[in-house]
Amino acid sequence: MQKDTNNNIDTILNSTIEGILLIKKGFIVNANDALVQILEYNSKDELIGNLATGVLIPSTTQKFLEFNKHLFQEVTLVSNSGDLIPAIIKISDIELSKKSYKIVSIIDLREIKQNENLLFRQSKLASLGEMISMIAHQWRQPLNSVASIMAKLKFKSKKNNAIKSEDLANEIKSIQNYLKYMSKTIDDFANFFKDDKQKEYIDIVKTTQSAKKLIEPSLKAANIQINIHEIQIQKIYTYKNEYIQILLNLLNNSIDAIIEKNIKNGKIDINFIKSENYLRIKISDNAGGIPKDIINRVFEPYFSTKHDKNGTGLGLYMCKVILEKHFNGTIDVKQIKNGVCFSMDIKI
Ligand SMILES: Nc1ncnc2c1ncn2[C@@H]1O[C@H](COP(=O)(O)OP(=O)(O)OP(=O)(O)O)[C@@H](O)[C@H]1O
Ligand SMILES: [Mg+2]
Repeated sequence: MQKDTNNNIDTILNSTIEGILLIKKGFIVNANDALVQILEYNSKDELIGNLATGVLIPSTTQKFLEFNKHLFQEVTLVSNSGDLIPAIIKISDIELSKKSYKIVSIIDLREIKQNENLLFRQSKLASLGEMISMIAHQWRQPLNSVASIMAKLKFKSKKNNAIKSEDLANEIKSIQNYLKYMSKTIDDFANFFKDDKQKEYIDIVKTTQSAKKLIEPSLKAANIQINIHEIQIQKIYTYKNEYIQILLNLLNNSIDAIIEKNIKNGKIDINFIKSENYLRIKISDNAGGIPKDIINRVFEPYFSTKHDKNGTGLGLYMCKVILEKHFNGTIDVKQIKNGVCFSMDIKI
C-alpha cells in the first residue's frame, strides 16, 4: 500500500470507537488505537505481523448474536497480559489498492456484561425483598391469632387451675392449623416466584368458607359477622391458595377498618355473581369507607394509612397483581352506603 493511502486508512480506522483489525491471509496487517487499548498493547506494531487467531478466539460453538439488527459473532479476545475479554465481531471483505483484506470490527463486551449481571442481581434482590415482606404480611394475622390463643390458655389456667382437656385439644388443633398455613405460605410464595405452581379444581364457595375459618379468632374478638351468600357454581380450575391469599387480604382490611373506626356491629358480606365467562366476587363491609381523595390510590404498592400499625401497603397491590397475572381477572373498589365494596372478576 502507498504511504498516503496508509495514512488515510489509519485516520479512518482511528475515527471509530470500535476496535478494528485489518487481516491479510490470516495475518494482522493493521489495527486501530481502540483495539490496541482494549488489548493493552503499547502500540499497534506489537500486533502487526501476528496471526489474527492469536488475539481473536472464535467461540467453539459458533455463536451469532443480533446487535442493532446486525448479526455478530461472539468471540473471546486475548489481551497482551493473557486476560480473556468477551467481545462481538463483524467480519467483512474489503479491497484496498486492488488487494483483498478482511476487516474485523470488534466491540468489547466487558462493561455490557457487567451491567447485565448487576441488573440481574438487583432484580433478584428486589423480588427477594418483596417476597420476604409478603410472607411477613401473610404471617402477621396467624401469628396474632396464635399469640391470642396462648394468652387465653394462660389466663384460663390461672383462673380455674385447670383447662378442660377437650378445650385444650381444640386450641392445640387451631394452633396447628395456623402453623400449617404459615408453613404453606412460605411454599406458596416460593412457588409464586418460581412461577410453576399447579392449578386445581376448586369450589370457590367452600374455599371462601375455609378462608373465613382461618380468621375466626380475630372475627370473634372484634364481634364481626361474615356472611357468605352461597350460590351453586361449578368448580373452577385455578390456584386455590392464591385465591385464599387475596380473600384474606381483603377481609383483614375490613377487619382493620372496623376495629379502627370502632364499629360495634361489624359486618362483611361476600356475594357471588356468575355470568357466562366470569365469576364476580363482591366483598362489602360497614367500616365507613375510604376517603374520596385516596380511594384511587389503594392499589398502589406501599400505599397505606396504617403507619402506626406497620401496614406494608402491599396487601391490595398483591391482590391486583395476582388477580391480573394468575386469574385473568380484575379488581376494583367502590364506596357504598356505610363502607366499601371490593369487586373481583375471575375468568372461568
Ligand atoms: N375495607 C376498607 N375500609 C377502609 N379502608 C380500606 C379498606 N381496605 C383498604 N383500605 C385502605 O387502603 C389502604 C391500602 O390497603 P392495603 O391492604 O394495600 O395496605 P394496608 O392494609 O395499609 O397494609 P397491610 O395490608 O400490609 O396491612 C389501607 O391502608 C386503608 O387506608
Ligand atoms: Mg391490607
